[in-house]
Amino acid sequence: MIVIKTHEEIEKMAHACKIVAEVMEDLKAFVKPGITTKEIEMFAEEKIISKGGTPAFKGYRGYPASICTSVNNQVVHGIPSRVRLNGGDVLSIDLGVYRDGFYGDGAVTMPVGEVSLLAKKLLKVTEEALYKGIDKATPRNRVSDISSAIENYVEANGFSVVKAFVGHGIGMSLHEEPQIPNFGIAGQGPRLKEGMTLAIEPMVNTGGHEVSILDDGWTVVTIDGGLSAHFEHTIAITDGDARILTKI
Ligand code: MF3
Ligand code: CO
Repeated sequence: MIVIKTHEEIEKMAHACKIVAEVMEDLKAFVKPGITTKEIEMFAEEKIISKGGTPAFKGYRGYPASICTSVNNQVVHGIPSRVRLNGGDVLSIDLGVYRDGFYGDGAVTMPVGEVSLLAKKLLKVTEEALYKGIDKATPRNRVSDISSAIENYVEANGFSVVKAFVGHGIGMSLHEEPQIPNFGIAGQGPRLKEGMTLAIEPMVNTGGHEVSILDDGWTVVTIDGGLSAHFEHTIAITDGDARILTKI
């Protein structure tokens, strides 16, 4: 069942999502070559709490940290560690906030120092793919209209979409129905309706789409070692264009 939220509920979600957006902006300024992903996590956790939120990922299905930090060929769910970032890395940060009964979820991939032309193109195409998907998130469209818009844009730019992980409904739970794949044929799946709240999150690889999970049980990596990027927004379906809740 896809939960429809009232205006009041969406305003509560908007507050959790605003914390996601603000902390993400703080993180963009904080990330530099030489810093560890653990230091980034500690900074983020402190900011989330000082803004009145709770880190949503900590303890979720046993996940051991407040945010996910995925570097280079890591796709998603990387665990913050003492490993230092180098100039030229790309860092994906995934951030979830719980506040007053509701969740917000967002992700950004950022360059660390100066990065390659390929990395710059990957970040640009992945973020643009997210917006291609959001453009389709209007009432009466179907879920797979989002999916196909993302896949088509990514593949037209010579990259591949990860198929093993998907976007999702979000609200009083971090993951709700429907699942939102980043691939597929348009015109399929549930019809979108005002009051639905969705987390759309393309994961895009420079090489093949295949991924595997490291022995830590969490970190998802590309099997061919290609770079990967991840952008995510939590949105609300309105009677017109989608409202992006995780944007300042
Ligand atoms: N944004 C990711 C998702 O929607 C967050 C993963 S939560 C984790 O799946 F705690 F499991 F890492
Ligand atoms: Co998500």
